[in-house]
Amino acid sequence: MFKLAHISDPHLGPLPPFRVAELMNKRFFGYLSWVRRRRALHRPEVLTALAEDMADLAPDHLVVTGDLTNIALPEEFTQVGRWLQGLGAPEAVTVIPGNHDAYVAVPWEASLGKWQAFMSGEGDAVATGPESFPFVRYRAPIAIIGLSSAQPTPLFCAHGTLGEIQLQRLGPLLRRLGEEGWFRVVLLHHPPSLGKIVWRKRLVDAVPFRRVIEAAGAEMILHGHDHTFGIEQIDTAGGPVPVIGVPSASAGHDGRKPLAHYQLYDIEKAGNGWRIEVNARGFDPVSGRFRETRCYAL
Ligand SMILES: [Fe+2]
Ligand SMILES: [Fe+2]
Repeated sequence: MFKLAHISDPHLGPLPPFRVAELMNKRFFGYLSWVRRRRALHRPEVLTALAEDMADLAPDHLVVTGDLTNIALPEEFTQVGRWLQGLGAPEAVTVIPGNHDAYVAVPWEASLGKWQAFMSGEGDAVATGPESFPFVRYRAPIAIIGLSSAQPTPLFCAHGTLGEIQLQRLGPLLRRLGEEGWFRVVLLHHPPSLGKIVWRKRLVDAVPFRRVIEAAGAEMILHGHDHTFGIEQIDTAGGPVPVIGVPSASAGHDGRKPLAHYQLYDIEKAGNGWRIEVNARGFDPVSGRFRETRCYAL
């Protein structure tokens, strides 16, 4: 059995020191939002409790589906890099970016390049820029396919786009991995839902993405972005593909969205297919610890 852990949207705080010039763009509004609301919501002590809980349960691999930063300051990427190292070695942790990690355009080396070891495929497939997506990591029996829907957007927009190049590469990749018998886990930040997400936060190319999945198949699709639980499916010739979202990993109090959660997926072969058991673990503000809140099988 393979135990995969999934966290999303940690929005690591506090914000590091910055120069005023760095806020002379969309970041200024993100900073106001952080000061007014988000810094009280996304709590470092919740992430500490999550890391302790996860260490106790010792998953085989961890995936993080984006929005690790808040306003994409270069120093935030450094801070997150250190936090990732604390969660595990790059071989045991896989990361993809979210829209907050592309809040404004920042050169690769000063931003996502700092997490390169967590986003690189095998061997020579080192992540050197946006063209490195999708990447594949093999952790038998699972193959992790990392996509990026992160792109700088205008003020008050938080949509994402995979783009034609990633979608063109994704189909043949999934087909090959399927033929080789891998349990294919596709990671993307924005939910590929139709009509459920507010327009300004949508995945722009959700329809073509779903078409690729329908044609090429996958075993599981994991996302974040919505800061809430998501469970739906994409129907394919090989059967329904579960599409699963988790709340923010750092939400310290009940607001419009659930408290902090992460999920564990126990994956094992069952006959000609696979069995997935989902364990959701949520933050309990009374004890300050994480505990199981729901468990179901797919
Ligand atoms: Fe987020
Ligand atoms: Fe997001």
